[in-house]
Amino acid sequence: MSSLYFDTAATTPLDKKVSDIMAEIQNSIFGNPSSIHQFGQKSRTLIEKSRRKIATSFNCKPNEIIFTSGGTESNNLVLKGILKPGDHLITSSYEHPAVINAAKQLENNHIEVSYVKPDLNGVVSPDTIQSEIKPNTKLISIMYVNNEIGSTNPIEDIICIAKKCSIKFHSDAVQVVGKQNLDLNALGADFLSIAAHKYYGPKGIGMLFLKSGNSIESIINGGGQEQSVRPGTENVAGIVGMALATEIATDNVALNSKKIIKLENLFLDLLNKTEIQYKINGQSRIPGIINMTFENMLGQTLVMKLDMMGIAVSFGSACASGALKPSKALLDIGLSEHDALRTIRISIGKFHQEDDIKTLVQSLESILNQKTNVNHENNYVS
Ligand SMILES: Cc1ncc(COP(=O)(O)O)c(C=O)c1O
Repeated sequence: MSSLYFDTAATTPLDKKVSDIMAEIQNSIFGNPSSIHQFGQKSRTLIEKSRRKIATSFNCKPNEIIFTSGGTESNNLVLKGILKPGDHLITSSYEHPAVINAAKQLENNHIEVSYVKPDLNGVVSPDTIQSEIKPNTKLISIMYVNNEIGSTNPIEDIICIAKKCSIKFHSDAVQVVGKQNLDLNALGADFLSIAAHKYYGPKGIGMLFLKSGNSIESIINGGGQEQSVRPGTENVAGIVGMALATEIATDNVALNSKKIIKLENLFLDLLNKTEIQYKINGQSRIPGIINMTFENMLGQTLVMKLDMMGIAVSFGSACASGALKPSKALLDIGLSEHDALRTIRISIGKFHQEDDIKTLVQSLESILNQKTNVNHENNYVS
């Protein structure tokens, strides 16, 4: 049985070059970067070299990079490190749980939160953000690209609004790197979250971009590493791996996007030659994330049937299970419960070939031409 992975929005395989350099470091460098002896300084040198490399890739200053364990931690650091009782946060209703659940916790701590809904295209409108601003609005946090739908938000316009009102702006940009250029100096966001495992880098390493002039209070206490914002002994191999993955991803955005768009077009062309009834949800999509409703089968069933044929796509959560619930993001952009339950996410990566797409369409055709039962189980898309 062939094995095809179409879930690159959940995570990506490690680039071979990244895995090689990480293995080399794991096997030879072990000093604590905070130690002043030569063992420690070898680790420190690697970290600072990696920080400079990432700063070059994203056009920011090295000291604006705080290494974290990834998207979840970076999002939590910003929300909990900035907001105090009496402050107001504007975010969107379809953020990743790392923002939504952090915001819910803050509400228990007397922080006001407005959850702005995306429009029917899956996009958060700057006008809606503007209309939610209050005198005590301290932070606006809007994701760059939605992980379920793939829709891209007009972040530059939202930043303009935030700046005019002297409000800090954060974006969860976890789904952007490698798919679109990211120039942090030009963008003007105050804070931005990034995770290396979404662009062929290692898991458990990421960064928080903390623009010069901003400060946040740490949510954990420790030995002062990463400007005391994220104390704890650094993940040296992870940081070096992330730096290489970032360089590869940002240097090849145009090439990879072109390839992925071509594969997406092939997928849709081939699908249109079949009898399969489908619709694509969301507009302004980033290359590689396709959210699709198939009228005659539950998403959960389709995911399982494809999996039995060796093909991985996603419906609900990579990390939760329980009773079947339609995706909140899909309901928020106007899908009925019926349609939301019949929706899957297919995410294409830089390693896919035309033959993989052909196999995917043939498999969908063979499954969707059969009649199936409705089955109930649960989900969240990471
Ligand atoms: C939009 C978005 N934000 C945050 C995260 C969480 O990132 P991490 O897995 O690095 O904690 C993910 C991935 O699951 C994501 O897609």
